[in-house]
Amino acid sequence: MNNVVRMAIVDPVDPSRNSVKNLLLGIDWVWLEAECSRYEFFSEIVEQTSPDVALISLDGDTHRALALVAEVSLSHPTCAVMVVSKSQEGSTILQAMRNGAKEFLNAPLKLDDFMTALDRLRGSSDSKQGKSKGSRIITLVGASGGVGCTSLAVNLGCALSAVEENSVAIIDLDLALGDADVWLDIIPDYTIQDVADNISRLDYSMLKRSLTQHATGAFLLPRPVHLEAEPPMTPEQMQRVVALLKATFSHLIIDITKTFTPLDMAALEISDDILIVTQLDLPCLRNVVRMNQFLEDRDLGDRVKVVVNRAGMGESQISMNKALETIGREVFAQIPNEYAIVIESRNNGIPFVSEHPKSRITRAIQQLAANIDARAAHVPEEDEPAKPKRGLFSFLGK
Ligand SMILES: Nc1ncnc2c1ncn2[C@@H]1O[C@H](COP(=O)(O)OP(=O)(O)OP(=O)(O)O)[C@@H](O)[C@H]1O
Ligand SMILES: [Mg+2]
Repeated sequence: MNNVVRMAIVDPVDPSRNSVKNLLLGIDWVWLEAECSRYEFFSEIVEQTSPDVALISLDGDTHRALALVAEVSLSHPTCAVMVVSKSQEGSTILQAMRNGAKEFLNAPLKLDDFMTALDRLRGSSDSKQGKSKGSRIITLVGASGGVGCTSLAVNLGCALSAVEENSVAIIDLDLALGDADVWLDIIPDYTIQDVADNISRLDYSMLKRSLTQHATGAFLLPRPVHLEAEPPMTPEQMQRVVALLKATFSHLIIDITKTFTPLDMAALEISDDILIVTQLDLPCLRNVVRMNQFLEDRDLGDRVKVVVNRAGMGESQISMNKALETIGREVFAQIPNEYAIVIESRNNGIPFVSEHPKSRITRAIQQLAANIDARAAHVPEEDEPAKPKRGLFSFLGK
């Protein structure tokens, strides 16, 4: 998990201070260093506790609170000041920002607004320190049924979580027939259905309870236990859940269906990497071309990476050269055909990256994981054209 953020808050109004406090206590990587009900004592408290973030409510006394924003920003430049207020007045917002506030949040404070603001703050401080960007969303989509999406999603997640600084969550968005839990031999207490049932009052501890950790370290958010005709949540709600998870995990792996449902589309939209998993046969390759076109039409083409699964089956497959000619773009990774290993892994519910660490297929998955991270860490040269900015959720690029 990412580092803890140490916070101090000041709000003379008891009910709103308590509700902010409760919200912060629900986030396990936020450490509430100090809570203060008097503006006049807060500067001293910041001096003593050196928090990463000071959250100042303006609603006790706007004038005084704005002066405090200036004071804390000036005397504690390493502490980021966030302001929260019921006021939407442009002049108040402007004054708060001029006095040094980094974020202006609406009261009552909402979890997603807060997480988003914190994510922005952490993103800018990371880039100032030259750290690599954090969380990546990697979605796998198959060019046909049974091409190996779930095998690859689960093993990629486990391979990524073997790297010490990584924290990985696998989200099974194949809500009807998903089987990521089987591949990991997990009988979950909670599923994505529980997240959906609590969506209006979702806090971080609730969300974390819905995840089950596997022995490899990777977490799983499983599909619902019962098969329902209706999806448990809207695409917007799903994106909100992913936004919350993104604030905590370095990698989110999403296993979607092959039917491009609204939820699948929402996952693709917020993904950094879209892995199209294909095999070397004509129906698959034809679909890769169609899927590429579909994703390019939606401005998602630059995130696509083609992964050929079950490669190396010789004469019975279309050759790699012919495949490259057909799909008209590079192949990002080739995963060898290892039927005995993969089927044993599935039947035992043990990822092959754990059970067969030296096998060719494990090495190929590890290479895929390394290549994804290497691409993510690539900083464009000055004369390299900048990639177009993403719209929705681009703020999550921490
Ligand atoms: N690299 C591989 N070598 C051999 N067999 C494989 C390989 N990858 C996957 N398989 C086999 O292919 C079958 C389907 O795999 P998997 O369930 O991962 O595909 P999927 O795309 O998720 O399927 P679905 O469309 O049902 O979601 C499994 O039985 C698995 O054992
Ligand atoms: Mg699957």
